[in-house]
Amino acid sequence: GYEVQLARTGQTLSVEPGRTLLDALLDAGIPVQYSCSQGICGTCCTPVLEGTPDHRDDYLTHEEKAANRAMMVCCSGSLTQRLVLDI
Ligand code: FES
Repeated sequence: GYEVQLARTGQTLSVEPGRTLLDALLDAGIPVQYSCSQGICGTCCTPVLEGTPDHRDDYLTHEEKAANRAMMVCCSGSLTQRLVLDI
C-alpha cells in the first residue's frame, strides 16, 4: 500500500494493496470524474505534484508517463510510498 496526500483539501488517504486509487478517492468522498476505469479514456487524469506513479494506463504517452505530472487514478498505482495529488 501507499499514502496519497491531497494538496487542496489537506487529506491523506491510505491505499491498501489490491485496491485502486480511484476507489480510495471515491470512498473518501472526493468527486473524481471517471468513465472507462481501464486507463483508456483519460477522464480520470489527475495532476501529480510529488511521488512517482506506477503508470498502468494506455492513455498517456511514454513522454507524459516519464514526466510524472499526471496519472490515471482508475488503474495506476504508486512506485513511491507517498503521492501528492493536486486535488
Ligand atoms: Fe478512463 Fe481512468 S476512467 S482512463
